[in-house]
Amino acid sequence: MSEADAAGDAVADPLAGVADLLRCPVCGGTVAADRLAVRCGAAHTFDRARQGYASLLARPLKFHGDDAEMVGARGAVLASGLYDPLLRAVAAAGADVLSAVAAATGSRVPTAVDLGCGTGTYLAGVLEQAGASVRARGIGIDASKAAVRAAARAHPRVAALLGDAWAELPMADGAADLIMSVFAPRNAAAYRRVLAPGGAVMVVAPEPGHLAELVDGIGLLRVDERKNERLAGALSGFDEVRADTVRWAMRPTPEQMAAIVGMGPSARHLDSAEVRSRIARLPAGLTVSGAVAVRVFRRSAPGACVPAPG
Ligand SMILES: C[S@@+](CC[C@H](N)C(=O)[O-])C[C@H]1O[C@@H](n2cnc3c(N)ncnc32)[C@H](O)[C@@H]1O
Ligand SMILES: [Zn+2]
Repeated sequence: MSEADAAGDAVADPLAGVADLLRCPVCGGTVAADRLAVRCGAAHTFDRARQGYASLLARPLKFHGDDAEMVGARGAVLASGLYDPLLRAVAAAGADVLSAVAAATGSRVPTAVDLGCGTGTYLAGVLEQAGASVRARGIGIDASKAAVRAAARAHPRVAALLGDAWAELPMADGAADLIMSVFAPRNAAAYRRVLAPGGAVMVVAPEPGHLAELVDGIGLLRVDERKNERLAGALSGFDEVRADTVRWAMRPTPEQMAAIVGMGPSARHLDSAEVRSRIARLPAGLTVSGAVAVRVFRRSAPGACVPAPG
């Protein structure tokens, strides 16, 4: 955390600080936030958890996202430094978007929204990298209570909301200058409504070869090789303006390997005792590859024509 944040923001309430960007999920009205709840003018009230996040939901979630164990494993991996090259690349790409918005709009404070934010670590990195002069605000949304609990602590300017990335987002039209999807679900219709003119979407997704040594050695689920092809289709109406593939090498301890497995989709399919015994059979000091694409998209220019097939 920067000195300015430590001195200024630590006592402020990040959720109250983004209330102007939020909308009531029931009636769409503007809201205000206090320590106990978020309320709209029509008296729809959404209680806040002790940890600071709010559940701005029109109806209870049907899907509860990652469980506490998975979020804990993800937190441990991100805190270990193993993913630092990726954290740096995401922070740089996101901060570039926010800094450009701040430069173009003068005094307006830009906002980053991370859908499926997990622990909020990537979002916090973006805000921190954008710096104390930009003082960007962050909103982290996740379907997992364990995740939003962690995200609420990630940075003094990150507000955390329990929510569904597939549902109508409780946010005003054009409220986000940067929308992030980091190993998380993507919802292009929501991006189109919530993204401010001049804003950008950052999509971070594994490339083939990501964690290959663990995929082969432990039998993890494989990255779908056609994922990027599908992404291009799903983000119709957006043009890719930046693409960095981050490739790095990790030397995880057996415990860190177990955390890498535990934070991913294979955690739901593999028994943890079996994972440990498979890790024990891997060569000592195994180097594990990271390969992740960090891609930035902007709205296509109005009137840009898409050629008809054939
Ligand atoms: C693979 S984790 C990535 C978390 C974080 N972006 C990161 O990279 O550290 C996927 C996250 O998306 C959340 N998630 C899954 N489906 C969701 C949905 N429909 N709405 C909101 N969050 C969702 C999960 O709870 C989980 O925290
Ligand atoms: Zn309302």
